[in-house]
Amino acid sequence: MKLSLHFLLPLLLLSALLCPSSAVLCHPQDKKVLLEIKKAFNDPYVLSSWNPDTDCCHWYCVKCDRTTHRIISLVIITDNKISGPIPPQVGDLPFLQTLIFHKLSNITGPIQPAIAKLKSLKFLWLSWTNISGSVPDFLSQLKNLTFLDLSFNNLTGSIPSSLSLLPNLDAIHLDRNKLTGSIPASFGEFQGSIPNLYLSHNQLTGKIPASLGKLDFNTIDFSRNKLEGDASMLFGSNKTTFLVDLSRNMLEFDLSKVEIPKNLQYLDLNHNRITGSIPVGFTADSNLQFFNVSYNRLCGEIPVGGKLQSFDYSSYFHNKCLCGAPLSSCK
Ligand SMILES: *[C@@H]1O[C@H](CO)[C@@H](O)[C@H](O)[C@H]1NC(C)=O
Ligand SMILES: *[C@@H]1O[C@H](CO)[C@@H](O)[C@H](O)[C@H]1NC(C)=O
Ligand SMILES: *[C@@H]1O[C@H](CO)[C@@H](O)[C@H](O)[C@H]1NC(C)=O
Ligand SMILES: *[C@@H]1O[C@H](CO)[C@@H](O)[C@H](O)[C@H]1NC(C)=O
Ligand SMILES: *[C@@H]1O[C@H](CO)[C@@H](O)[C@H](O)[C@H]1NC(C)=O
Ligand SMILES: *[C@@H]1O[C@H](CO)[C@@H](O)[C@H](O)[C@H]1NC(C)=O
Repeated sequence: MKLSLHFLLPLLLLSALLCPSSAVLCHPQDKKVLLEIKKAFNDPYVLSSWNPDTDCCHWYCVKCDRTTHRIISLVIITDNKISGPIPPQVGDLPFLQTLIFHKLSNITGPIQPAIAKLKSLKFLWLSWTNISGSVPDFLSQLKNLTFLDLSFNNLTGSIPSSLSLLPNLDAIHLDRNKLTGSIPASFGEFQGSIPNLYLSHNQLTGKIPASLGKLDFNTIDFSRNKLEGDASMLFGSNKTTFLVDLSRNMLEFDLSKVEIPKNLQYLDLNHNRITGSIPVGFTADSNLQFFNVSYNRLCGEIPVGGKLQSFDYSSYFHNKCLCGAPLSSCK
């Protein structure tokens, strides 16, 4: 007896040193759920490492928490063999913080309602898929969300105003869908962090809510929609906005009264119905890298100074009666 113990102990120690990963980490419930997801997706090749005989913390496309060993991340990128709807079992990974399905062009159906159960979710990125239906209201229950990207899908319906109840959002990407209706007025009421708004390439209509003027957004991309009316509330000299792209809408306001946010680096207003002239104040912004006010109804002389003369004539052409460098001189 004594002998065998002497013999066994160093052996155990040695094997622990040689195979530190041999300890089973995977939570059996998480493993069961992942295998169900694999089955629902029809056993795709990309998930072939999801072998029931191995530790699920070592499988591809997932990550376990270092201490709890619960699945915290599920990321599947670029695969057209994965088809069908998002399986409801994704809602049964209760510690999931990151869920990414990107460039899975054969994923169809709505945004899976069971995602509402993922209260720890911080990062939800479902893009370049064929998911359809609406942007669900339940997203507003996921209070820890910092990043929401549902771009490049086939989503319809309007933008839920309840998204403004999310206190930690850094960005909302709903661009390149088929969303209709107007931008919710509640988007001027974000309480915690103020998210970058990417709503371009949809069919949004109506006016930009005046409430948006209350917040100092970093990035606003509303381009290629059917927005009309005023957009001057998005500007102001005491804002620190970095990018404003309102190109290809039907916006109609007087640019003369607009104060450019200090440090604005990117301003695209092309293809709207903007009137007035370019304010002299625009010469004060030396950080401007991109500027395009073409295809509007602007008039008057382009103020001389700052970066304004460094832009191509195509930044200014197709206006009512804009003149001066880089366009031809005013008569
Ligand atoms: C994926 O979709 C394409 C185009 O719709 C189709 O040709 C292909 O058969 C689909 N693949 C699978 C695995 O469903
Ligand atoms: C949300 O995040 C906070 C701060 O990181 C954390 O303490 C809390 O447990 C998270 N809530 C959930 C449901 O995961
Ligand atoms: C979007 O869905 C429609 C049917 O509702 C379909 O005809 C179309 O091909 C889809 N487009 C994309 C880009 O997935
Ligand atoms: C998915 O979307 C692509 C375009 O991104 C389209 O060509 C394809 O037909 C769609 N597939 C299905 C199954 O809807
Ligand atoms: C910015 O200016 C507007 C009026 O131009 C004013 O109402 C608002 O309080 C100012 N905001 C800050 C943060 O100074
Ligand atoms: C400005 O926008 C117009 C219209 O899209 C385009 O033709 C032109 O090339 C753009 N110019 C610059 C410098 O971006």
